[in-house]
Amino acid sequence: EKGGYASFMLKEIAEQPKAVADTLLGRIDAEGRLRLDEVRIPDAVLREADKIVIIACGTAFHAGLIAKYAIEHWTRIPCEVELASEFRYRDPILGQRTLVIAISQSGETMDTLMALRHAREQGAKVLAVCNTNGATIPRESDAVLYTHAGPEVAVASTKAFLTQLVACYLLALYLGQVRGTQWGDEIHAVVRELARIADEVERVLETMEPVRALARSLADKDTVLFLGRHVGYPVALEGALKLKELAYMHAEGFAAGELKHGPIALIEHDLPVVVVVPSPRGRSVLHDKIVSNIQEIRARGARTIVIAEEGDEAVVPYADHLIRIPATPTLLQPLVSAVPLQVFACELATARGNEVDQPRNLAKSVTVE
Ligand code: M6R
Repeated sequence: EKGGYASFMLKEIAEQPKAVADTLLGRIDAEGRLRLDEVRIPDAVLREADKIVIIACGTAFHAGLIAKYAIEHWTRIPCEVELASEFRYRDPILGQRTLVIAISQSGETMDTLMALRHAREQGAKVLAVCNTNGATIPRESDAVLYTHAGPEVAVASTKAFLTQLVACYLLALYLGQVRGTQWGDEIHAVVRELARIADEVERVLETMEPVRALARSLADKDTVLFLGRHVGYPVALEGALKLKELAYMHAEGFAAGELKHGPIALIEHDLPVVVVVPSPRGRSVLHDKIVSNIQEIRARGARTIVIAEEGDEAVVPYADHLIRIPATPTLLQPLVSAVPLQVFACELATARGNEVDQPRNLAKSVTVE
């Protein structure tokens, strides 16, 4: 039941703080160490893994792209992310020391299932990140880390996405812990921040009214572009996917650093461009570069919609619309920056008269290749 919300999607967006908290529950102990006892892959195997390959589709693929940054940073294990539908057709190089992570909300996506079968045939160990107990993908995997988002009914994935991110962060930190790499102050700080992140997501949800108004004002546009860098790049891709599937608009996500290699030619008067700005702390070089990107596109007439941390004043002069998110460690930012994009797409779709829970031509789980 929709519990008083106009759509399942709105309900599921609102459930995200709980979904995130539930996915963390019992997995971090009082000392701040990760406890993933349910991951039945022996520590020895995790210690010896020399490559991680993530396979997934759609929104789960975007979670995988973000996971790559976390895994490589905290574990120093090379990590590839591939669309499950492409994976087995290119003769991928896999072996017994390859750890494959299959991310799927439903656990029934055929492309992901076929990719994981291929990986296991080649001797790789497969760990599923899944939201559905006992689904085919976890049943056919060597181990599973469940997300606890609860049932996701709307076709557009929202709370499952956030919990996939949480599961991937936990996994990355756990791998770091098992392998003894980089287990420093930074990881402790991140674990502490993860414990608070559900409240931060709640705070974002409380400030979404201006985002809704902005979305309604753009209902007659044809195109929206999304820019990001680092983990903000997959967030931009996810923002664009949400808009395509819900609002049936032309939407594209770009890595902001690619602008001058082509996409900047698309910028024209009043084109809405959403920019996900990295934290000015942490990797501040990226922050400064994206601020120049915002300046560049604004000088060419774009209507800039800027998602930036509270306290980031450098963006203010160049933002036609400013959406604030709480400050988080760089790698965790997608947990808060993705939320306004979900709200934005949902509201725009509604303003355009679309059915948000059941967009045209789409099914909740894609059980054919
Ligand atoms: O159930 P899965 O996570 O395997 O589904 C993967 C995609 O089909 C899914 O994320 C799709 O892209 C969503 N409709 C996006 O909102």
